[in-house]
Amino acid sequence: MSTERMPSVADLPELPRRLAAAAPGWSETTDVLVVGSGVAGLTAALHLREQGLHVTVVTKVNIDDGSTRWAQGGIAAVLDPLDTPAAHANDTEIAGVGLCDPAAVRVLVEEGPARVRELMRMGAAFDRNPDGSLMLTREGGHRADRIVHAGGDATGAEVQRALHDAVHRDPWIRLVEHALVLDLLRAADGRACGLTLHVLGEGSEDGVGAILARAVVLATGGMGQIYSSTTNPSVSTGDGVALALRAGATVTDVEFVQFHPTSFVTASVTSVQRPLISEALRGEGAHLVDESGKRFMVGQHELAELAPRDVVAKGIHRVLRATGADHVYLDARHLGGEFLEHRFPTIVASTRAAGVDPVTDLIPVAPAAHYASGGVRTDLAGRTSIPGLYACGEVACTGVHGANRLASNSLLEGLVFAKRIADDIARELPPQADPVAPAGDRGWVVPAEIRADLQRSMTRGAGVLRSADSLAATAKELTRLGEQRATPRNAAWEATNLLTVASALVASARTRRETRGCHWREDYPVAEDEWRGHLLNSIDARGAITQNFEEMA
Ligand code: SIN
Repeated sequence: MSTERMPSVADLPELPRRLAAAAPGWSETTDVLVVGSGVAGLTAALHLREQGLHVTVVTKVNIDDGSTRWAQGGIAAVLDPLDTPAAHANDTEIAGVGLCDPAAVRVLVEEGPARVRELMRMGAAFDRNPDGSLMLTREGGHRADRIVHAGGDATGAEVQRALHDAVHRDPWIRLVEHALVLDLLRAADGRACGLTLHVLGEGSEDGVGAILARAVVLATGGMGQIYSSTTNPSVSTGDGVALALRAGATVTDVEFVQFHPTSFVTASVTSVQRPLISEALRGEGAHLVDESGKRFMVGQHELAELAPRDVVAKGIHRVLRATGADHVYLDARHLGGEFLEHRFPTIVASTRAAGVDPVTDLIPVAPAAHYASGGVRTDLAGRTSIPGLYACGEVACTGVHGANRLASNSLLEGLVFAKRIADDIARELPPQADPVAPAGDRGWVVPAEIRADLQRSMTRGAGVLRSADSLAATAKELTRLGEQRATPRNAAWEATNLLTVASALVASARTRRETRGCHWREDYPVAEDEWRGHLLNSIDARGAITQNFEEMA
């Protein structure tokens, strides 16, 4: 595609190549620095330990505070003898609408079952049938029952518990909590050799410091907090993607933010994070209905309520637009109280706490931002475009999700690519290099107070539905927000990360003039062959977003 066809991104804010922060007041070294403590980060740490390496895991709040523990549905993997990796790959690629990397998908589906079995050996207890076999369920876009789950709808909590326990058993994994990473440190040859970070600690590693490492693994999770409603926790502020962009790494497919069709809508939920109503509930037979009780997904897709997520989210949005309501309903009443309480204890508890009993009531639901299908671009070994910098989990774009992630492929991706990263690092780990002082000024940050305005503007102009006009209005607002300056502190660093990832998303969403997967352009309503490829974003030396288009092979 010629560069003239790429619209200007000049009206987006100038972005910092470095965050304003005090000079590091302390430093320490480790072999490998892992940032993030969800499924990807902790799995990477454990596999790196198997390779005999010293690992430091830094995490923004407490070890269990990321997205993993909120995952309900499960982990997709071929564990039924009648299922095949080819069938799982096929479902993954259909959901990804032509943008999945087939080699990455093959890795995911072929290596996934072994990683799930490892997790079980480590102590993760998945739900089983009376005969002892694994209980497998189905979610949207899957044409076979291949989702393992735990505690009914508490899969993420069980995965997090098992990994957390394993990490705590290993004295050679150092855990640094309450640590917000700031910027990447680079050696004279450009290789990543550590990070600066701010730790709210007591003792030697308090305040801004540096951890030097022979390799750095980003596993910081997603960016759902760029929107006003999301299933992601408050820590999901795109820190890893923003850090990678500031360092000059390539970020791709960021326009493909998946909106989960069924987040719980109730007046008593006032936080940005909304409770998830797992797709597995639809997998077990719950129906989506409008105010008149009509099943509106029937006839829209052969899989009706179990169509891929983008299709269901769009189906719901059409109803919301037509009726002016802020929710539709999920009807699970016919599944019965005993089944619902046993199979979906988390959902039953959270809805009952808000006065909605799924045994007798319809559950009000609406789409909410759920998952970043894109992120920091990696190869099949988890390497980013910066030597020594790796990424896995939601922060990464390995190529498995394409334009829309298939349900329950996310925990799986974290498990599979974290192991690959550990193997790659063990194969070639150079000695510790000294960081060189970054050139240029000391960077800057925007005020924490922009957060709510940014979320509103992104929701209005760059949410489930987008158009040239809505995206231009959002770009203008991001520019206004980006002109403000603040004193460095955690909330301001986070707000700057939100601004950085939101700007990259808006830039890509404006450029991609088609509708594909979870990127829905009202002014370009169909998928176009000429857009079958990836938009690669980076930030240049002046702080401007630059883009390239890479056609699919
Ligand atoms: C869900 O339980 O519906 C979420 C699962 C996922 O995001 O893959």
